Order: sequence, then structure tokens, then C-alpha cells
Amino acid sequence: MNIDIIAGARPNFMKIASIINAIKSKSFKNKISYRLIHTGQHYDANMSESFFKQLNIPSPHYNLESGSGSQAEQTSKIMIGYENILINQNVDCCLVVGDVTSTLACSIVAKKLNVKVAHIEAGIRSGDMTMPEEINRIVTDSISDYFFTTSDNANKSLLRQGVNPKNIFFVGNTMIDTLLANKSNFSKPSIWGKAKLKDKEYLIMTLHRPANVDDSKKLKKFIIETINNSNEKPIIFPMHPRTKKQFLKLGINNSNFYPIDPLGYFEFNYLVERCMAVITDSGGITEETTVMDVPCMTLRDNTERPETIEMGTNMLLGTNPSAIEPALKKLFLGEWKSGKVPPLWDGKAGLRIAEQLIKIL
Ligand code: UD1
Repeated sequence: MNIDIIAGARPNFMKIASIINAIKSKSFKNKISYRLIHTGQHYDANMSESFFKQLNIPSPHYNLESGSGSQAEQTSKIMIGYENILINQNVDCCLVVGDVTSTLACSIVAKKLNVKVAHIEAGIRSGDMTMPEEINRIVTDSISDYFFTTSDNANKSLLRQGVNPKNIFFVGNTMIDTLLANKSNFSKPSIWGKAKLKDKEYLIMTLHRPANVDDSKKLKKFIIETINNSNEKPIIFPMHPRTKKQFLKLGINNSNFYPIDPLGYFEFNYLVERCMAVITDSGGITEETTVMDVPCMTLRDNTERPETIEMGTNMLLGTNPSAIEPALKKLFLGEWKSGKVPPLWDGKAGLRIAEQLIKIL
């Protein structure tokens, strides 16, 4: 069986790492052969290469080098690049993960060439059509053949759309596979010493959604509100390239606030595991904090991962910066909820995916 595995942007890499490990594991060896296609959507060393190194992901067979651009530019470059390598190839299935531009672009190309599409992390929905990711999820799920899901909410939303239940496979969470498999590799970043961090005595903040960072006044308010209500605890702020560009215009200089470049996977999760709380607009981090039982405050109005709120440690604060003060008060009073790990987020999703692929293809 030949499959193509697509990865393009930072949150894809932890997901494919678990699937590739499963395919190469003793139980499935020689049953599935794969080509890894890197679309090049993320290309900075600390947004891409460092994840390949740390997570032992083999070098991609192809790199489409799509680079940056508008949504349409990026999508079209990836589509043309992938079509060029898929045409005239005997591939049984194209496996796409998550909800990034690369996921959408490659699923369309594969489907139009009559190649089956398997979507990992299918069925999740925020209901927010202003997010490019929501459009990517809906389009990808509307043409996929096989749906691998992380939660019962996702199963239900696929059933509501009329997906045949036979093609829905509730397998768990590949991002969590990678987190659990690498816990012993988490390592102290240099900021630990520089900021004199102590266990459970600092906060982490990450922001990268266009809606939160493209307006520099809004970005400034989020940061100032966090600094003003942080009880003088250090705040570590690893910046996505988009955020860094805006942050540099703000002139924020506070001795407890540490803006830094994006961290490696081992270094970032070392910090998350030991922090008091994470303030973020990421989706993936809400899953990781749930599993590590770390309080998480999400600066968004909605989430496609409701189980992180219903069962986990996450709370939606919305996008009004004034919501940060009461949330941090609650945290410092020791009143933050403790969470439970959602079903099947047990480190074995990749193995379940490999097993199913062999059965269905
Ligand atoms: C993408 C995903 C988002 C995910 C995020 C994680 C889509 C639609 N969005 O958003 O779901 O949460 O990745 O990081 O796919 N840039 C660099 N170096 C890089 C990559 C990007 O400087 O290696 C710059 C680009 O020039 C651009 C900005 O970062 O200005 C945004 O990159 P882009 O790939 O368009 O989307 P993300 O915001 O990263």
C-alpha cells in the first residue's frame, strides 16, 4: 500500500510524527509504504526543521517550497506543486492532517486525481467562518473518504453532515501521542535561567491568530492587561513570525515580560509542563495543557475543541482584553478547575490509524 503523508505548517509536524512512527513500528512494518510531502508553508528553521530533528521525522521525499503568500497564493502554489508529483503516480491514499492551508490544497488535488483522501482530526468545527482554518476543515471533510477523529463531538458533527458512519474512525489524538512519547525528552530552554524561572511561578503567553495580532493596538492591550494582572510573575512570550513583526512596533518594555523567538518542541513543552498557566489563541495548546493538567486561558470567542473546556483545563475568555483580569484573579486564588483527559487521548492514536488504514485500503 502506498500513501502520501502531507505536512506543511508547525502544528502538522507533531501529528505526522506519531503516524510515521506507527507505520514504521514492528506491527506494521513493510505493510504501508509512504512518501512524505512537505509543502513548505512553514520554512523557518524554528517553525519547521527543528521539529523534524527533535521528533526524528525522516526527511521529506519532496518539498514543494510554497513559502508565504496570501491564502490563494499559498493554496495555488501547493496545489500545482503537489499535482506535479501526484500525477501518474500509483498512490492509494493521500493522508492530510489538521486544518491548515496545506491540508485543504492537497486534499483537493488528490481527490481530483481519484486518489482516496484520509483526514486526520476530521470533524472538528468552531462555527467561525472568519477563520481560514474553519473553511479548510469544512472543504476537506466534504471531499474526504476516511475520517479519523479525536473526539465524540467530531464524530457527531460528521454524522450530522451525513458522513457514512462506516468511514468514521474514532482513534484519539496524534498530537497527544507525540506529547506523551516525548515527555522524557522535554528540556530546559535558556530562558529558564535568564528569567530565573521557578516551577509554577510564571506564565506563558502565545498569540498568532490574525484576528488577535494584526491589529497592533489590540495586541498591545492583550499584553499590557496580562502584565498588569500577573502579580509580577514572569511572562514568557514565544512569538510566531507574524506576531513578532507586530510586536516590534509596540515599544513594550517590562522587566517581567520576556518576548522570545519560537521555541523548539522539547523546550516549549518543558515550560508548559511547569508553568502556572498558559494564555493563548492556539487550538493545539489547549489540548496539550488539558493532558498536562495546566490551566489554560483561550483568547478566542469560540473553539473547535470543546472537550478541552468540558473536560479539560481550558476556559474561553473571548477577545476582549478586560477578560484577562478576572481570569488571572481566579488563577491566583487557586480556584482554577482541574481537568480530565478526554477518551482515547492515550498515546495510541497513530497505531489505531495504521491498523485502520491497512483494513480499509
Ligand atoms: C498557520 C495555520 C494555523 C496554525 C499556524 C501555526 C493556516 C490557514 N493557518 O498559520 O492554523 O495555527 O500556522 O503556526 O494554514 N512565516 C515566517 N516563517 C515561516 C512561516 C511563516 O516568517 O516559517 C510568516 C509568513 O511570512 C506570514 C506569517 O508568518 O507572514 C503567517 O504564515 P502562514 O503560513 O500564512 O500562516 P500562519 O499564521 O502561520
